[in-house]
Amino acid sequence: MANSKYEYVKSFEVEDEIMLPNIIIVRVDGRDFRRFSEVHEFEKPNDKKALELLNECAKAVLEQFPDIIFSYGFSDEYSFGTNERVDLIFKEFSRQASYVAETSDKISISIIMLLMNQDTLLIVSFFTSCYVTKWKALFPQKDLRYAPSLRSRVICCASVEVLQAYLVWRQYECHLNNQYDTCLWKLIQSGKSQKEAEEILKGSQKQDRNELLYQCFNINYKKDIPEIFRQGTCTLKTEVEDIVKYKDDGCPVKRLRRKVITVHSENIASRRFWNDQLCLPKELGPFTEDLNKTMPEYLKSFQYENKLMPCTWIVIRIDGCHFHRFSEVHEFEKPNDAQALNLMNSCAAGVLEEFRDIVFAYGVSDEYSFVLKKESQLYRRHTSEIVSAVVSFFSSMYAMKWNEFFPHKEMKYPPYFDGRAVCYPSCEILLDYLAWRQVDCHINNQYNSCFWMLVKSGKSKSAAQQYLKGFCFLKLGDGVIRYKMALWILKEDIQDEPFENEGTQAQEKNELLDQLSGTIDYYNKLPLMFRQGSSVYWDKVISFLLSHPTTKSIT
Ligand code: GTP
Ligand code: MG
Repeated sequence: MANSKYEYVKSFEVEDEIMLPNIIIVRVDGRDFRRFSEVHEFEKPNDKKALELLNECAKAVLEQFPDIIFSYGFSDEYSFGTNERVDLIFKEFSRQASYVAETSDKISISIIMLLMNQDTLLIVSFFTSCYVTKWKALFPQKDLRYAPSLRSRVICCASVEVLQAYLVWRQYECHLNNQYDTCLWKLIQSGKSQKEAEEILKGSQKQDRNELLYQCFNINYKKDIPEIFRQGTCTLKTEVEDIVKYKDDGCPVKRLRRKVITVHSENIASRRFWNDQLCLPKELGPFTEDLNKTMPEYLKSFQYENKLMPCTWIVIRIDGCHFHRFSEVHEFEKPNDAQALNLMNSCAAGVLEEFRDIVFAYGVSDEYSFVLKKESQLYRRHTSEIVSAVVSFFSSMYAMKWNEFFPHKEMKYPPYFDGRAVCYPSCEILLDYLAWRQVDCHINNQYNSCFWMLVKSGKSKSAAQQYLKGFCFLKLGDGVIRYKMALWILKEDIQDEPFENEGTQAQEKNELLDQLSGTIDYYNKLPLMFRQGSSVYWDKVISFLLSHPTTKSIT
């Protein structure tokens, strides 16, 4: 809508060009879930409820996004992350070590989807929101103590064989980890110290560990340990027949409907399991041969990795997905809902506390821009990891803090956010970026204020739209906003631009608002937050005393 001199900054927004293979895997891993599971006292080595919660989220993701066909997840208990185990796995599964070291996050869910129709970030965002909103159903006695978050990465499968190899690898890891952890915890529960238990398991083979469980604890690993722990969980779509109505003669009218189910299988990469499912061979292709081994390095070569340019300011801009509907369903005040904006601001402050490399944030409506310092090495500047972690954390905060801001409103469904990362090479361009967003805020807000005022005065929505179409607001261009954003952060002595005259166009619309509202200077009396958006940054003095970031509306 907006069209200002700052618009040129849009040219920095390069689209992510992911090659379009048939199958995309989005692998979602917990961010420090080791700590999360300790704080929330999950049972060791596996907490059934925690796994069920993950499965519920995976199910919700499959129901929400039509392109997602299949997911596979397991809990990766790795609380004693010793090199010992890396060695062990290294021996048993050649060249696995680098991968094991990477997957120490306690949960790992691989979401398999067809084509690249869906933005992968929406998945991690929606998954996180679901995790928070479904928490109480699975843990009615336990409070969620802090916002859980995940990060995601993308693996592009060039063929269904790559997918098969990937599944072999993930399930092998599930099996190995679970068997090791079962032994370790049984030994610890029987009185051994962690060190002693690890010593006993040192150099053990799969068979040795099965023996140990049987001889010492009378556990038959295959029979006594539930499949959800041993095999992980598959979530997939199948087709069921529904009776939609009955004809006059009493005969049922049936229709095929897709239904999401969860299943367990000893070998998810086998032809037998895969090809027997209704949708999997149809949507993703059949497996033509059984596969027992795979090289993780081979799979790693399919991982899509994009790094953000060094020594540039990174801006992560997140944006609520379908917030038009979300705000309608939750009856947000129009055009601005102060509580909804305060909730966004509070989440943004949480993001600054979580990611210390973020030095400044600016938010308006359902979007927020987070500025990372130039020299940030967060996730080694890997785009997907940075953006997914920020988006996921923000989504988590939003769902968690909802009741604080809307104590009398139930959240009807989990919200989710999209995100992108853009690099800006200089302070000037970064400031222009922020000015662009702020001009957008101003223009949209003036338009929306007039639109809703016209509607309140009795005009229909389409009449109000029509009326404003011919009006000058949309052309309102350069220089109406004085931008003076957090120059202190940028540590450069940029002179303030002279405050330009708003001109007659602004005057006209202000007059319209004055006239409709019956209040002199109506627009300028609106809260700053509505007119100019909100900024969040560390106030050095206050942060020392209060230890949380400040939110301000900057003029
Ligand atoms: P996508 O981002 O493309 O998924 O669409 P969207 O529906 O989220 O729309 P967009 O991001 O372009 O705009 C945000 C929308 O959120 C606005 O158009 C409003 O409908 C809604 N919104 C954001 N803040 C408020 C608010 O304070 N009050 C009300 N009533 N609506 C709001
Ligand atoms: Mg939006």
